[in-house]
Amino acid sequence: MFLVSLSLFSLVLFIIYMNFKDFNFKSRLAYAISRAGFTEPSPIQEQSIPLILEGKDVVGQAHTGTGKTAAFALPLLQKMTGKDGVETVVIVPTRELATQVADEFYKFSRNLNIRTATVYGGTSYGRQISHVSGAGVIVATPGRFLDRLDKNKITINPKYIVLDEADEMLNMGFLEDIRRIFSYFGEREQTLMFSATMPDEIKELAHTILKSPTFIQVETEAIPTATIKQYYYVVEEHERDSAMVRLIETADPKKAIVFCRTKRETARLAEYLSGQGYKTEALHGDMEQYDRQKTMKSFRSSDCEILVATDVAARGLDVRDITHVFNYHIPFESESYVHRIGRTGRAKREGVAMMLVTTHELRELKRIQKDVGSELILQSVPSKNSNLDERLKTLFDMVAQEKVSASSETILDAMLKNTELKTVASKLVGLLEKTLTESSLIGKTKDEAEKLLNSVGSDVESENKKSSRQYKERNNKKPQSRSGGRGRSQRRDNDDEIRRGNDRGEIPIPTVMTVGGGSRIIPRKLF
Ligand SMILES: Nc1ncnc2c1ncn2[C@@H]1O[C@H](COP(=O)(O)OP(=O)(O)OP(=O)(O)O)[C@@H](O)[C@H]1O
Ligand SMILES: [Mg+2]
Repeated sequence: MFLVSLSLFSLVLFIIYMNFKDFNFKSRLAYAISRAGFTEPSPIQEQSIPLILEGKDVVGQAHTGTGKTAAFALPLLQKMTGKDGVETVVIVPTRELATQVADEFYKFSRNLNIRTATVYGGTSYGRQISHVSGAGVIVATPGRFLDRLDKNKITINPKYIVLDEADEMLNMGFLEDIRRIFSYFGEREQTLMFSATMPDEIKELAHTILKSPTFIQVETEAIPTATIKQYYYVVEEHERDSAMVRLIETADPKKAIVFCRTKRETARLAEYLSGQGYKTEALHGDMEQYDRQKTMKSFRSSDCEILVATDVAARGLDVRDITHVFNYHIPFESESYVHRIGRTGRAKREGVAMMLVTTHELRELKRIQKDVGSELILQSVPSKNSNLDERLKTLFDMVAQEKVSASSETILDAMLKNTELKTVASKLVGLLEKTLTESSLIGKTKDEAEKLLNSVGSDVESENKKSSRQYKERNNKKPQSRSGGRGRSQRRDNDDEIRRGNDRGEIPIPTVMTVGGGSRIIPRKLF
């Protein structure tokens, strides 16, 4: 008994005082870690680094922004010799994430004589391939990578494979590509999967790809509620634009992402917000690679303050100081909600997530709330003249601009016959103020929205069950390509677009399912 409590005590002490030095990383790696400003490992790093060093296959799940990249990059760099060609391959769902993960590897490996190359669509083949020869790490998106493997332009035999955003990489869209990529490699030593969300179906799939994997799950709830505050607003469809402007005006974000469902909507809203005077840029899969890179650079350097994006920006992106995430449209999937809002509140910072929901989307809202298990707080869109100073100014302006007419003088004289001047004036100001407030109201009040929510009913769960069954049925069928049936070459051109929205900005029906009210979502248990 004494022994057990002693070892428990030392474990607690170990965890409390855990430091990167305890991992005994080689000196050049330890130096790079301290230069990056990392002192204490995050919980996912604490738990997964020793297992990866031991050679175990690991499935790691932890909140967005908690350092999963370093959790796999550091132990792999420790194990790599730097002399065996490409030893590590990391597969990620988007081009922007490929660049970011490669940068993270570079940050830690520049003194280790291990080079990192990226392979993703939209850039010249030649340059990428020349970078691959001589690299120890490849970070790739599946489409372009598979294309190069198919054409024998890349022949490698990596020891370590990582699927970052693993649930996305193994969903219906990417699974087929991943299996084929694996078929080009010989026996690998270790396979790792990381993500903030890990639906049960994906965990089952992990058993078929990994060798006796160890599952690490740092938190039980889907969203770090202590760091990300979540609000939603019920509006009419035609009020979305003005509601968004009102929210941005009052929240005054330092840096924000606004998520839309389609590429077309993204481009349009970015233009609209620019027109309203905000430093805004768009990011979506129909843009030229050069423009995508330019946008990301400008967002990271804060030249652009508001990034309007499709789900292509939902996974993994780590941009400092994003204070707000706005959902212009409710996302299709609960996982997507978790990842979208996880672009803020990263690395122990605080963030705010705000979402617009129409009355037709209340059922989807309830489902997301149920899936993520944390509370989204209902608010009404702030009125333009919500504080007294603002109201006073607007009223003064209105009165100053109004001309005195003969008829108004006659009416006033008539009113003053029976009532004191001050009373008449106060009542008229009251009327004016009421009109002012009503004319500037956007969306439903909290009372109205609550009534609507109550009327949505409680059949969300039964639909959820039905949908899960459909999900399983679909999963048993031959996997669909992300392109929703487009030809292979076209699919590869768009290799790294997260699988929502096709070229016309429409939704690829085969990858999602239709539930009540014509809305689409794939409900699954996230944890
Ligand atoms: N131990 C640490 N100490 C301080 N900062 C850290 C530490 N580990 C990671 N970070 C920083 O935290 C930020 C988030 O890390 P990272 O992008 O790896 O998160 P993630 O868990 O992969 O998030 P997501 O689920 O969104 O992909 C990065 O800026 C990274 O440099
Ligand atoms: Mg990540």
